[in-house]
Amino acid sequence: MVDTTHGNSGARMNRRMNRLSRVTRLPRALPALATVRSDVDAVLREFLREKAAGHLPTQLVEVVTDFLAAGGKRLRPLLCVTGWHAAAGEGTPPPSVVRVAAALEMFHTFALIHDDVMDQSSTRRGQPTVHRVLTARRIASGGSRSSAERFGVGGAVLVGDLMLTWSGELIHTAGLSPAELTSLLPLLDLMRAEIMYGQYLDLDATGAPTDDVERALTIARYKTSKYSIERPLHIGAVLGGADLDLLDGLTAYALPLGEAFQLRDDLLGVFGDPAQTGKPRLDDLRDGKHTALVALALRAASGRSADLLRDLLGREDLTDAQAEQVRTILVSTGARAGVEDMITRNRDRVEELLATPGPIHPGALPVLHDLADSATRRSA
Ligand code: IPE
Ligand code: IPE
Ligand code: MG
Ligand code: MG
Repeated sequence: MVDTTHGNSGARMNRRMNRLSRVTRLPRALPALATVRSDVDAVLREFLREKAAGHLPTQLVEVVTDFLAAGGKRLRPLLCVTGWHAAAGEGTPPPSVVRVAAALEMFHTFALIHDDVMDQSSTRRGQPTVHRVLTARRIASGGSRSSAERFGVGGAVLVGDLMLTWSGELIHTAGLSPAELTSLLPLLDLMRAEIMYGQYLDLDATGAPTDDVERALTIARYKTSKYSIERPLHIGAVLGGADLDLLDGLTAYALPLGEAFQLRDDLLGVFGDPAQTGKPRLDDLRDGKHTALVALALRAASGRSADLLRDLLGREDLTDAQAEQVRTILVSTGARAGVEDMITRNRDRVEELLATPGPIHPGALPVLHDLADSATRRSA
C-alpha cells in the first residue's frame, strides 16, 4: 500500500497512543476494570504502533488511535475476562485471553464507526465521529462539501472494515491452541453475523416506528446484547474451559442485561446529557428510530399527542423545541417510566439468576453484580 505519511508523525503518534491509557472510566469504579482496561489498551497500543511503522496510510492509524483514546467503557473486554474467570476461577488470565479481549474492543470500534455512518451521527465519545473527521479534513484541504462528504463516508466505511480485519488479526496472532481456536471461531462467526443482522433490522425499522415493543426488543437483542454482553462472556468462558451448561448460564445472565443496557442507551439517547454521553440527543428522534421507548409512547398516546408524535418522529429537520415536545409526550404517556420499569425488571431478573449461579465460578460473581448495576444505572 502507498505510504502517505505527512512529514515526521512519530512523536505525534506516540502522544496519541499514550493517551490510550487515559481513557474515561465507568461511573462506578469496578475493581477488575482497572487492570483489564490498561492491559487491553497496552495490547492495542502495541498493535497500532506496529501498524504505524508499516506502510499503511498514517491517517488511518491516527484516526483509530484518536477514537480509542477519546474514551469508551471497555465493557466487552471486561466481560471477556470475566467470562474466563466464570469458567476457570480465580487466577490470572493468560496473555492470549487479554489479546482476545482487545480484539473484541477492536470489533466494537468497527461497529461504532459504521453505526455512526448509518445513523448519520455527528459526535461519539465527545468527539466528531470518524466520517465527520474525514469530511472536515477534506474540506480543510480545499474539497467541495459534497465530495468531502462522500470521502468522509467512504473513508469511515474503510476504517471500520480495517478494524474488523484487525480484530481478526488480533485473534489469530494471540497464540491460541488449535483446540482453543476450534471452540472460539464459531462464536466469533456468530457474533459477527448477529450484529449485522441486528443493525439491518434496526435500519429496516428506522423512519417508520410502530407500537410493536417486541420488535424493538428483538432489534436490541441482535444489534447490542449479543455482541456486547453474551458473546464476550462466552468467548472468555470457552477459553477458560467452559462446558455448555456454563455457556447457557451466561446467556441467561447476558440477554436480560443486554436488553437493559440498550434500553438505558435509548433513554440516554433522548434524555441524556451529551456532555456525559458524548453522543447527540436528537439523532434517534430525527431518524425515527424504532426503540422500545417510542413503541411504548405510540401504544399509549391518543388524540393530539398521538398525531404530534407521528408527525414529529423521523423529521430530518426536527428542531430543539420540537424535540422537547416529543420528550414531553414520552414522559406524559408513561413511556419513559415504562422503560425504567423494564430496566428494573431485567436487573432484578439478573440479580435473581446470580443468587443461584449454578456453574458460574463464585470468583466471577462480584464483577457480574457490579456490571449488572453499572450497565443499567449508567449516565454515559
Ligand atoms: C455503545 O456501546 C453502543 C451500544 C451497543 C449501545 P458502549 O456504551 O459500550 O460504548 P463505549 O465503548 O462506552 O463508547
Ligand atoms: C447500538 O446502536 C449498536 C451498535 C452500535 C452496533 P445505537 O445506534 O443504538 O447506539 P448509539 O446510541 O449510537 O451508541
Ligand atoms: Mg447509533
Ligand atoms: Mg444505530
